[in-house]
Amino acid sequence: MIEELKEKLQSLSTIQEVQNIKAQYFGKKGQITALMKNIGRIEPEKKKEYGMQVNELKQEIERLLNGKLDEIKKEIKKQEELKNWVDVTAHGAERSFGKEHLIAKTIRDIYEIFTQFGFTVVEGPEIEEPWFNFDALNTPEWHPAREMQDTFYLEDDLLLRTHTSAVQIRTMLKEEPPLAIISSGRTYRKDEIDATHSAMFHQLECLFIDKKVTVGNLKMFLEQLTKKIFDNEDTKVLLRPSYFPFVEPGFEVDVSCMNCGGKGCNVCKGTGWIEVLGAGLVHPKVLENVGYDPEKWQGFAFGVGVERIAMLKYGISNMRELYKNDIRFID
Ligand code: PHE
Repeated sequence: MIEELKEKLQSLSTIQEVQNIKAQYFGKKGQITALMKNIGRIEPEKKKEYGMQVNELKQEIERLLNGKLDEIKKEIKKQEELKNWVDVTAHGAERSFGKEHLIAKTIRDIYEIFTQFGFTVVEGPEIEEPWFNFDALNTPEWHPAREMQDTFYLEDDLLLRTHTSAVQIRTMLKEEPPLAIISSGRTYRKDEIDATHSAMFHQLECLFIDKKVTVGNLKMFLEQLTKKIFDNEDTKVLLRPSYFPFVEPGFEVDVSCMNCGGKGCNVCKGTGWIEVLGAGLVHPKVLENVGYDPEKWQGFAFGVGVERIAMLKYGISNMRELYKNDIRFID
């Protein structure tokens, strides 16, 4: 009986199968049950011997069955563990993360430099009133910049700001001098779109108001700033006299092109310089317009073309790349 059972057990793999076999021995019609019942028909002197043998048999069968049950339970547990096993050291699936756009990065980098110099970041609206964008900046009605072909006019005598200089006015009206602020954002002009122009572009404005501010301060500041922006101690600035109604004197400022391979350079077209900003000392009339005493306070201001800085820094020859949002470019 034992040998037969051992053989049967070998092929079993579920608890139910073992239970079924168990019933064959211990159920109502089971073999062991039958043997136990038989005891009544055994001669009295052999009863004890018989009983002991049946009992032994019973215990051996139980031992084998329970052993098999344990074995199956262990196997089930093992399978379960295998199924739920997690390799915590395995590499995660490849995932591409977003990248910061070069315009956003350039603005953030410049903000970081300015804030180290003690400047505060302020904001202004993209939809402006003509007074903030023009009049207060000493740019009267007759000025060509105010014409329809340059400026996007909206309903209700509003316009899309043509430069971030409007933020100078908004800030000075709110704050008392001295002042050191920067502001950046979108600006709009009816420019023909080409490799270096766009109807929407970004500017970053800086305004510094204090006592006895000179062109020397402005130049020193521009030099420090551009060296930091381009992370290059050899960066040079070139101040060319120019005209903006809201500064006197006014300058167009070029920086040396570090990608310049001479004639082949497609950033500065081989000139070695690229114009990146307009600057100057704040015009006394502008100070008066916001209620500052020009005898007491002077200041410098400049407006940087963010796209130009990004193009120069990263060697981008076509400004349009910055607006396509082609993920391969951004990568
Ligand atoms: N607002 C001028 C422009 O858009 C730049 C500028 C800013 C010039 C501040 C002088 C001072 O071109």
